[in-house]
Amino acid sequence: MAPQRIALVGTGGRALSFVEPILTTYHAPNQLVALLDSSATRRSYYNELITGRWQSARVPEYAPEDFGRMIAEQRPTTVLVCSKDSTHHDYIIRALHAGCDVITEKPMTIDAEKCAAILAAQRATGRRVRVTFNYRWGAFRTKVRELIASGTIGRVHSVNLEYLLDAAHGADYFRRWHSSMQESGGLFVHKSTHHFDLVNWWLDAIPAQVFAFGDLAYYGRANALDRGDEAWTRYPRYTGAETGHDPFALDLRATESFRRLYLEAEPDSGYVRDQNVFRAGIDIYDQMSALVRYRTGETLTYSLVAYSPREGMRVTFNGDRGRLEYYEFTGSHMNRAVTSGEFQHEHHGSAEAAGEWIRIFPHFAPSYEVPMPPAKGPHGGADLVMNEQLFSPEPPSDPWARSAGHEQGAASILVGIAANRSVVTGTPVRLDALVPLPPAAHRLRELV
Ligand SMILES: NC(=O)c1ccc[n+]([C@@H]2O[C@H](COP(=O)([O-])OP(=O)(O)OC[C@H]3O[C@@H](n4cnc5c(N)ncnc54)[C@H](O)[C@@H]3O)[C@@H](O)[C@H]2O)c1
Repeated sequence: MAPQRIALVGTGGRALSFVEPILTTYHAPNQLVALLDSSATRRSYYNELITGRWQSARVPEYAPEDFGRMIAEQRPTTVLVCSKDSTHHDYIIRALHAGCDVITEKPMTIDAEKCAAILAAQRATGRRVRVTFNYRWGAFRTKVRELIASGTIGRVHSVNLEYLLDAAHGADYFRRWHSSMQESGGLFVHKSTHHFDLVNWWLDAIPAQVFAFGDLAYYGRANALDRGDEAWTRYPRYTGAETGHDPFALDLRATESFRRLYLEAEPDSGYVRDQNVFRAGIDIYDQMSALVRYRTGETLTYSLVAYSPREGMRVTFNGDRGRLEYYEFTGSHMNRAVTSGEFQHEHHGSAEAAGEWIRIFPHFAPSYEVPMPPAKGPHGGADLVMNEQLFSPEPPSDPWARSAGHEQGAASILVGIAANRSVVTGTPVRLDALVPLPPAAHRLRELV
C-alpha cells in the first residue's frame, strides 16, 4: 500500500503529538510531506526537531497563501489540520476540493456558517473527514460506553456532566487566542466540543435542542478589580514583568518549547501567548451551563467552570435499571507547561484524591466499582490508541466506533454553537435551524 502523504497545517503546540508518531512508530506507512503555518519561526523549529530529535529528512515549508502551491508540489493524500480553530474550515474545504482526505483537530470549526460549508464541501467531493476526539479513546471513557451500550443501568434517560478546569489549565485559555469568540467560538465550542461529543457517543444519540447561560465571572479586568485583585492587572503580559507571587504568571522563557514556539515567533506572527488573564477585552465565558434535549428524548444537564481549584469531571447517568457515576480528577493547582501533552506538573497538594473511577448503583441492589487497569500515556492513554487508528495502515477493529467523521464532528460543535446563540437570545435553539443533520437519523452511529 502506498504511504499516506500527510501535509500538516498548524505547527503549534498540539501538532507535535501527531508528528512524533508519524515519524517514529508509523513512519513506514506515512510520510510527512509539508509543513504549513503563518509563522516561519514555528515552521523552522518543527524542522529542527524533525531533523534533530527524530533524525528525519527536512520537510518543505509553506506559508498560508501558498496552500495551493503546497498541494501541487507535494501531492498530499491527507491534510492534517492543527491550526487555530477559526482557520480550520478554510483548510478543510480547500483540502477536500483538492482531492485530499482530512484529519482535523477539534473543534471541526467554530460557527454554523463554516460548519455548513464544510458539510457541503464533503458532500460535493465525497472525501473523508476525521475529527480527532481523543477523549473518546481513553480506557475509562470507552468502558462507560460499553457499560451503557450493554444495558448495565437499563435505558438512560438523563445525564449530568460537570467539568472543572483548574486555575492553571483554565487560565491558559484566557492568555491567548482562545479568549476571543471570533478565534475559538468560546469555551462552549473550543472546550465543550469534547464533552458534548462524549455524551453524544455515550448515549449514541443526536442532540436536538439547547438552552444555555454563559458568563465571564472570574477572568477579565473588571472581575479582578471587583474582587480587589488590582495588583494582578498591572502588566499586559507576564514574561519579563514584575509579577511577584501572581499565581497566573507564565514565563515563556521557562521551557524550550515555549521559548522557541512562541516567544521567538512573536516578531513574525504577533501571537502573544502569555497575555494577562485579567485584561480588558476578553469576550468569552468562563462559566457556562446548558440543557440539551436529544432527538431520542434523553436530557443532558451540563456545566463548565474554568477557574476551579481542581480539575476533572463528574458524570452521572440515570437509567431505568440504575445509575452510573464516572469521576475523573487530576488533582489540584497543577502548573502545566503544556505543549503536545508534555506536561510539567507542580503539585501543591490535593484536597481530594486524584484518579478515575466508575461506580454502578443498580436499583434495589448494592453498588459496586468497575475494575479498570491503570491508564498510561498522554490524555490518559487516549492519544496512543487514537494515533494507531489514524496512522496504522491496518488499524485494529474498533467495536465502540470511536472514529468520528464530519457529521459527528458537527453534532458536537452545533451544541456549543447553539448554546452561544441561546446565551445571546435568551431562548432555546434548535440545532436543525442552524445546520440540518440527516433528518431520518435517530442514533449517532447513523451519522458519519
Ligand atoms: N484534542 C486535544 O486534546 C487538543 C489539545 C490541544 C489543542 N487542540 C487543538 O489543536 C489546534 C491547535 O492548538 P494548539 O494548542 O497547538 O495552539 P497553538 O496556538 O500552539 O498553535 C496554533 C497554530 O496555528 C497557527 N496559525 C494561526 N493562524 C493560521 C493560519 N491562518 N494558517 C495556518 N496556521 C495558522 C499558529 O501560527 C500556530 O502555530 C486547535 O484547534 C486546538 O483546539 C486539541
